[in-house]
This record gives sequence, C-alpha cells and structure tokens, in this order.
Amino acid sequence: MSRFYLTTAIDYVNNRPHLGTAYEKIAADVIARFHRLAGDDVRLVMGNDEHSQNVFRRAKDAGLDPLAYCDRMEQEFRSVWAGLNVSFDDFIRTTQPRHKVAVQTLVQRAFDSGDVYEGVYEGWYCVSCEEFKPEKGLIDGQCPVHRTKPDWIKEKNYFFRLAKYRDALLEHYAANPTFVAPESRRNEMLRLLEGGLEDISVSRAGQAWGIPLPFAPANVVYVWYDALINYAAAVGYGGDAALFDRWWTQTGQSRRQVVHLVGKDITRFHCVVWPAMLMSAGLPLPTQIFGHGWVLFKGEKMSKSLGTVVDPLAAVERVGPDPLRLFLSKEIVFGNDGDFSWDRFEEKYNADLANNLGNLVNRVTAMAERYRNGRLRAMPIAGELSAAATETEARWRAAFETLSLDAACAVAFQFVDRINEYIATEAPWKLAKEGADDALDTVLWNASEALRLAAVLLWPVMPASCEEIRRRVGDASNDAHPIWARDGQWRVDGERVVVSGPALWPRLEDKEITVSDEIPTPSGPPAPPSVPAPASVAAPGADVPAPAEAVAPSSPGAPESLWPMESRISIEDFMKVDLRVAKVLTAERVPKSKKLVRLEIDLGSERRTLVAGIAEGYEAEALVGRTVAIVANLKPAKLMGIESNGMILAASPDGGKPMLVAFDQPPAPGTRIR
Ligand code: ME8
Ligand code: MG
Repeated sequence: MSRFYLTTAIDYVNNRPHLGTAYEKIAADVIARFHRLAGDDVRLVMGNDEHSQNVFRRAKDAGLDPLAYCDRMEQEFRSVWAGLNVSFDDFIRTTQPRHKVAVQTLVQRAFDSGDVYEGVYEGWYCVSCEEFKPEKGLIDGQCPVHRTKPDWIKEKNYFFRLAKYRDALLEHYAANPTFVAPESRRNEMLRLLEGGLEDISVSRAGQAWGIPLPFAPANVVYVWYDALINYAAAVGYGGDAALFDRWWTQTGQSRRQVVHLVGKDITRFHCVVWPAMLMSAGLPLPTQIFGHGWVLFKGEKMSKSLGTVVDPLAAVERVGPDPLRLFLSKEIVFGNDGDFSWDRFEEKYNADLANNLGNLVNRVTAMAERYRNGRLRAMPIAGELSAAATETEARWRAAFETLSLDAACAVAFQFVDRINEYIATEAPWKLAKEGADDALDTVLWNASEALRLAAVLLWPVMPASCEEIRRRVGDASNDAHPIWARDGQWRVDGERVVVSGPALWPRLEDKEITVSDEIPTPSGPPAPPSVPAPASVAAPGADVPAPAEAVAPSSPGAPESLWPMESRISIEDFMKVDLRVAKVLTAERVPKSKKLVRLEIDLGSERRTLVAGIAEGYEAEALVGRTVAIVANLKPAKLMGIESNGMILAASPDGGKPMLVAFDQPPAPGTRIR
C-alpha cells in the first residue's frame, strides 16, 4: 500500500468559491478517490488562506472583525465543497494555532541558518496577486492577471535568500523529471531558473493582520511565505513529529508521494519558492507539483476580479454534483485551459449521461426485471466484455497515475460504448422471444457485470451516481467506497438482484438550466457571504449587514408568502415526482361513489388502473380517448376497494367542479412532463 498526500492551493476568502476555484478541488477529489479506490492510504488537505490584505479589507467592508469574517467564510467554502462532494480529510486555515506554530518554526529556522536578512524593498505590488511585480511584467502599467494598477511600495523588509538556491533547484529538476508537471509548466520554470533568481521579501511592515516574525514581531510574515507552509503545517510540522513523518517525510515508504495541485498562475511560488524554503529548512521536497490550467468563461479566466464567475452550485442545484464533476474532468485536458459554457455543459450532459450511460443503466435493469424478475445468475462465459474490461483497466489506471483525468474518463466511456455495442449485437430481446434461456442469462449477466465495473471505473469522478448504479445492478458490497482489489474483478459466480429506478439523468431540454451566459458587470463592493454568522462569532456590537441571500424578497410588512423560502423544495425534490402523459382507454363510474371514476390508461410502456375523483366534472364516457397528465410513480392506494396506480392531475376550484390538466396537442402516452 502506498501513502499518498495530496494538497490543493488554499483559497483566499475575500470571495465565495467560483467554478474556477472549484475545478481544482474537484480535480483533487477525483485524484484522491482514485487512490482510495486503488487501496492507497490517502490524505487530501484543503483549506483557506486568510492573511491576505484583500481578506482584511473585505472584513472591514462587511463591518466584521477579520477572524469573525473568516469563520463565516469557512462555512461558506465548506458548504460549497460539500455540495460538490469533495471529500477532504483535513481543512487547514492559516489563522489556526497549528499553522502559526509551523510558520514561526520554519521562518526562525531560515533566520538561524542565515537565509533571512534585513533590507529595503521598493517596487510595484499587486494586492490581488499578493506579489511584487517587476516593471517589465506589467502590461500598460497593469497586472496582467488582474488588470489593475499595482501599488508602489517602499518598506523595510526581511528577505529570504532565494537566489542562493538556484543551482540546487536546477539540480533537483534535472534529477526529478516529473517534479513539475505538466511538461509545459516544467519548461516555463526551468527557463525562469536559468534566467537567475532574486531574493524575495518575506515580511510586511505596518500590518497587524498576519503572523508576527518571531525575531522581529513588529513585522508580519509575507502572506505567500505564510500560506505555502500550510502544506507542512497540516501534517504536523513544528507540532506533531509522528504525523509529519507519516505524511511528509514518509520514512520507509518505497514510493513516497507528496503532490501539490495548484493553478498555473501560482506555479512560481510552488515550484521555486516553496522548494527553496524546504531546502533551507532541511526538509524533503514534495514529489510533484502539478500546475493545472484555467477554467475560462467566454475566453477569459474565470475570476471574481474580472467579473467572469459562474457559481458551481448553480449546476448542482439542477442536476447534482456529478455531471459537473464529469464535465470538468472529461472535457478539459488536465493541465490545459478549458472553456466552460452552459450550452456545452447541457450538450455533454445529454450526450454522455442522459442518452448514453443513463440510458444503458435503464436498459440493463429494465431487461433484467422484464425477463428475469431482476434475478440474475453468474454465467461462466464472460467473453469479449470481460476481455475489454481487463484492457480498459490498464489504460484507465495508467491515465490516472499520470493525472490524465480527461483520458481516464474517456477510457471509461469507451468501455460504456462497448457495453452498448454488446447489447445491440447480442439482442437479448430476441433471445427472450426465442426462449434461448442460457444465452439470455449470459447476456444479462455480462451486461450487468460490465455496467457494475463501469460504475467502479467512474466512481472517482461521479461517486454518488456510481454508488447508485452499483446498487441497481445488485452489487452487495456497498462499503464506504469501492476497493479495486475486491470490486474491480470480473465476477464469474454468484447471483444478484437487479432493480430499476427513475432516470438517473433525465434529458435536459434546450436552455433548461436557467442560468444566463451573460457576464455580470463587476460593480460596487461585492455582496457579503450568504451564510449567516453563528451568534457566537459575530463581533460584539459589530454592525453585521444582513446576508444578501437571507433577505426575503417581499418588502417589510408585506403579507406572508404562501411559499416562504425555507419551505421551498429543490429541483431534485421535484424531479422525484414522475409526471407522465397518459391516454384514457376505458372509464366507468365507481358504483356507490359520487366522485370516483375507474380508468384504464395507456402509459406508453404499460397499462394501468387508476381511480380518480373527477366524476363531478366529467361523464365517464367523455373521458375515453382523452389525453391526461398523471403522477406515474405514486405508491398504489385502495379507493373503494379498487387499487389505484397513479393520480390524475386536475384543478379543483373552490366550490367548482374538477378540471383536467390538458395539452394544446396530445403528446404520446408515456412522455415525461416537467
Ligand atoms: O492563489 N480556473 O488563492 P486563490 C482554474 N491563496 N483555477 C483557478 C481559477 C480558474 N479560473 N481561478 C483560480 C491563491 N483558480 C492563494 C494560494 S497556496 C499556498 C495559496 C485556482 O483563491 C488558482 O490557480 O486566488 C489557485 O490554485 C486556487 O484556485 C486558489 O486561488
Ligand atoms: Mg487568485
């Protein structure tokens, strides 16, 4: 078993997470889950970067004590990560005592070894980057990333002897060809190193928000020097030697794995500054730093300061986290930039999920139920699908191990295609007609087994959906998560009970995700976080502005809405109700009842008996041939001794007669209504 320590960048909390920041966390979660599936001992750490000046300013704008503001934002970030099903093992904040200890230990060590000295800094500083910018790096006098004019700063600082480590860094790069990935990032860093390094400032004067330098407490540690140390602090540096050895040093591990996943805009800090800091402190370097690309929106980096943000939860509210996780993993070549648009998201959702995988799940489970009452027995002739599974696994594993998330997804979907082809070729419906029992058993077992394996392959990317697929194909070993050694093998014995269920991914019609692709214009001070502060963290007497989303839409004094916000349901709740078009085949009054009619209806795929309370509005005969709307997945109920399977939709005006919901033109029976 390998040990795998994976980190993401820690986020500035001056804004809520957007799809760009979420991309990195989703990617990290996918990688971590792959390693858990592979049986590795995994630790995924994320967190918040709180000592930036922008955070301090935001807190002030919100009228909050900075720590109280950061406490709120922690909840905000955690709730987004929970909504995206990101399974971190630890969450570090740079205001935590464990982090402060680690930072002070490391900076003191650098000072003691002569790597930190006093000097004066003068230059351009971009607060959003929290970085000094060389004049030649500016475009029209502006920061190229944030498009804002940096501040001119001159102050007494402490400096870290970064230049001294250039040769050692070059040697390390040469000896460890995958230290920085992808290749393009590595080349960029090599060019930078070859061009020579300058010492960097590691302190800021005249600020209170930060960690004091232990040897000069009037200064705080420069926010980047502070933030980078989180990776060591989170595993006990300066506090818990055993934990630090377990995850950082990994003594005794033949294959040490410490991986930092960060965006390409911050690779210099991670690939040059951080390794030099570690060298200075006599600590081992991470095994790899992977610099992923940017999620673009209309060709621009998605960024709050550029006003090009998409809320990751907007997609989650509509279709759950998995389609978004799949889109970001599969459609963006990992390491490159990639565009996000709602149109493309919908298109891929329909193609990969609604029409392909979702449809396959429906077909396999429906056939198992129709032909075998859901009970399948293992068949010895595994054949081509099992061979395809073996070959798929090798490519899938290789893709994940080189962090080619997009390739890993593509390989898994190629396997899904193979299953579809297999079903089309074997035509189980023909076998059923011909009464070819053994052949039918073989095809059904193989299809369900292959589908079960597809759900294991895709589990790192779509954990919740894949758990559901595994459940439907009767995989009994539903532990916390699948383990390849147990769940990744083609099974040739046993039995299983397959169950069908509602469509996992109902098709999205045009523009159904009602999120506009318009870029909102950046304006005024950004809204305060939407999670209300717990009473205990609000600064005493602070004028806490009401969180934007918590404000009721009605004006004060307006009558209470029938649908107060807190009682509203989510789209998932609504989608649980399966509304369908049906056609009335027969209709008769229920004897001794004033209201009830007994109907036979055609639901496209089946016929049903249904009892409806509409006799006061309609003659039974007049109902025959009518197209109606029904709730198709209602549990059966007995009315006047007749079992009713479903409910007809009608309006019941006060004091009036019931009126059926009708259509402009009758759609085909079975059509879904949403
Ligand atoms: O840089 N696409 O924090 P941050 C992809 N606190 N990734 C994106 C992105 C986009 N559109 N926008 C941002 C910081 N990111 C520091 C890190 S680590 C010791 C300190 C990524 O909130 C960005 O590249 O600005 C970074 O990796 C992460 O989100 C956090 O960005
Ligand atoms: Mg940033």
